[in-house]
Amino acid sequence: MIIPDLALKGFDSKFPSALRQTRPDALGYAREMRSHVRCALKSRQVFDFSLRHIERVLSNMFSALGVPYSAAGNGTYPIPYRLDVLNPDTDLERLTAGLKRNPTGGICLYRVPGSGKTAYAHYPANEIDRPLLVKRGSDLMSKYVGETEKNLAAMFREAEADNALLLLDEADGCLRDCTGAHRRREVTQVNEFLVQMEAHQWLFIASTNLMDTLDAASLRRFDLKIRFDYMRPEQAWLLFEQVMQERGFPEESLASSFRRQLGCITSLTPDDFATALRRERILGDTFNPDGLLAVLESECAVKPEARHRSIGFSAVL
Ligand SMILES: Nc1ncnc2c1ncn2[C@@H]1O[C@H](COP(=O)(O)OP(=O)(O)O)[C@@H](O)[C@H]1O
Ligand SMILES: [Mg+2]
Repeated sequence: MIIPDLALKGFDSKFPSALRQTRPDALGYAREMRSHVRCALKSRQVFDFSLRHIERVLSNMFSALGVPYSAAGNGTYPIPYRLDVLNPDTDLERLTAGLKRNPTGGICLYRVPGSGKTAYAHYPANEIDRPLLVKRGSDLMSKYVGETEKNLAAMFREAEADNALLLLDEADGCLRDCTGAHRRREVTQVNEFLVQMEAHQWLFIASTNLMDTLDAASLRRFDLKIRFDYMRPEQAWLLFEQVMQERGFPEESLASSFRRQLGCITSLTPDDFATALRRERILGDTFNPDGLLAVLESECAVKPEARHRSIGFSAVL
């Protein structure tokens, strides 16, 4: 089978000719594989790192054969996964290595929407090769008294029965600041959540976009709180270059003015790039650098931060 062979051999400068000799139909084969991978990604609608890995191998294979490879998209995940475009306040490589040795404890990923929290939460499970049970906070919340607590307990039991790592995505309700006597019910829920979390034997990850209303007492109970922020300018440039390269604009052809303009957009996330690529696919045209910049700018212009900034600016005027 060609793919594991490629993964094992790596890709050096002799690779394309070696590949053509051993398999003259290599490109046709790679194209066929790509369409299978795309179908699989489309039908599952999930982050599937093994498929992503095959896709990365295919992408290397295409470029070794001198053919541009356009990344597949499944409506949620159009950019090949890479850790270096995330901007957390903790070293994720180190963390993943630590979790490989010891996949236990509680981690809270919080802050900027679209910054890669949910996607990262899948990453350690894949690296460790363990199942990941994923629940959303809204699936657990119930209007009936005592039901939310039951659902929380059932979630932890299910993870333990499967020896699975657990992700509670958009755990907002469980982490909300509940100060105020009229919120006794929420206090009970949050407490139940914290008790269950501490008793859980495997890694538990909670993610939330909450910024101002995170409960300090809940947060303290997590072994690690990781704040995900907007991309740094050099990270945004990495993704910009990657997208442009795939569309036939190599690094050296990109004027430095693009880098300057991109650097002025201060609230970019990987999700903005993903959204731009989905939009490109739907509209059926291919980005040039100006086109991508314009879409990224418009994505960021509608963010609340941008609105605050412009209000502040006109107030000064
Ligand atoms: N490390 C990454 N590499 C490439 N694309 C990413 C990465 N992290 C996130 N993305 C893209 O950004 C989108 C939003 O990420 P997500 O993890 O859902 O953000 P959050 O949970 O912080 O709101 C994903 O669907 C994916 O397309
Ligand atoms: Mg998320």
